[in-house]
Amino acid sequence: SASETSQWRPSVCFTPERNWMNDPNGMVYFKGEYHLFFQHNPYGDQWGNMSWGHAVSTDLVHWKHLPVALEPDELGDIFSGCAVVDHHDTSGLFGGRPGLVALYTSAGDTQQQSLAYSSDRGRSWTKYSGNPVIPNSGEADFRDPKVFWHAATNRWVMSLAVGDRIRFYGSPNLLQWEQLSEFGANHGAHGGVWECPDLFRLPVDGDDRRGKWVLIVSINPGGPAGGSGMQYFLGDFDGTTFTPDAAPDDVLWADEGADFYAAVSWSDVPDGRRLWLGWMSNWSYAADVPTSPWRGGMSAPRELELVSTAAGTRLAQQPVTELERVRRNRRAWSGTVSEQGGAPNTEGTALDVVAEFQLAGATATSFGFDVFANDSYRTRIGYDVTRQELFVDRRSSGRTTVHSSFPARHTVPLPPTDGVLRLRIVLDRANVQVFGDRGQAVITDLVFPDDGSTRASTFAIGGEVTVQALEVFDLDA
Ligand code: FRU
Repeated sequence: SASETSQWRPSVCFTPERNWMNDPNGMVYFKGEYHLFFQHNPYGDQWGNMSWGHAVSTDLVHWKHLPVALEPDELGDIFSGCAVVDHHDTSGLFGGRPGLVALYTSAGDTQQQSLAYSSDRGRSWTKYSGNPVIPNSGEADFRDPKVFWHAATNRWVMSLAVGDRIRFYGSPNLLQWEQLSEFGANHGAHGGVWECPDLFRLPVDGDDRRGKWVLIVSINPGGPAGGSGMQYFLGDFDGTTFTPDAAPDDVLWADEGADFYAAVSWSDVPDGRRLWLGWMSNWSYAADVPTSPWRGGMSAPRELELVSTAAGTRLAQQPVTELERVRRNRRAWSGTVSEQGGAPNTEGTALDVVAEFQLAGATATSFGFDVFANDSYRTRIGYDVTRQELFVDRRSSGRTTVHSSFPARHTVPLPPTDGVLRLRIVLDRANVQVFGDRGQAVITDLVFPDDGSTRASTFAIGGEVTVQALEVFDLDA
């Protein structure tokens, strides 16, 4: 129809064919396929009738849409949750063979945790006859189970969001769960309800002996850019209790844009990479996002690492390397950017930008890129040299009437590490994803560019900056 907004349909980031989508769910790799389930209303473009939509991919870039996997039942709607490979049939549901088990929240009169299983590579699901596997015990917000196999204690461990705490449970078989511990009373941001936890261990700077446990917690509201946001905790997990490294008031954010939420990682990725993606929206205005016939999109899949920085160990994210396979039409440049000009303009609506700016010798007070630009509109992505912070300014990015909080400038601290400022930017028609340095500073923002706002160009203010390397690619999935 005439009202379809195909100009805002991302080309590499996942969107549902039509209707409403929020959180990623049930992310698991099994028999050559990455599964992506998602919170979905199959019947409308507003939140409701919550079900698990489903798509699969062999390369994290091209997605095949599959029928809805889980629909509401007598226990309620199907809220967020996870899927794991039950390799050794600990559940006894698979006759000794491996199978897929999904754990999700049944949201009816109360929120409870339920289980479904699939013996046909996720194509059909059977709900467990003993649901719920964790009944409600009085809590209003009691949801979003995320499970992994904890080898050292030989059991499954579940993280669950309960109010503004994370509760851990253990199980030998995915069916019977006992409470292990609770985290959060004395740590983190508490400006909203905690949702969608995840817990995993990562090496530091690639060294597994210096590994740390990472506890991921979405919070809404109370995020750094207003509304929904994602905090994380670094520490130790002994199979029962999570012990954070940080002082109680230290809050670490995974992404300081407005539109990265409910990200959780894929289970069972074979090469040991820890991969995730997030819902690219914000509960402040998700219902008003002006796209049709779909509403809601995912970020690009990202690989997670821990890196040492001057401020301490930090979570770092970069787009998965698979994205590089759909790069086309390489343009390379180096030289000086000033108020008089810089790199040649690029046209494009899905671009991958890799840039290295020399901070040593830079006289500019800020520099970077104007993207999705024409003579009246632009989204400005830059580095403020004086304040040592990365920013995305979407105040005149096009359609900004989405919500009063939409026209905004988002920032994240990024102290220089070695005199060179590295930026990786993925632009995908209606979003910008900016990764600073090794990916320890990230800003993900939706934008709705005005018709014809397709130009990308460099800018510098107050002086000059030298670009030692710049590559721009089209992304063509
Ligand atoms: C997070 C969330 C989850 C819940 C789901 C409902 O965005 O609120 O806590 O399970 O969305 O759709």
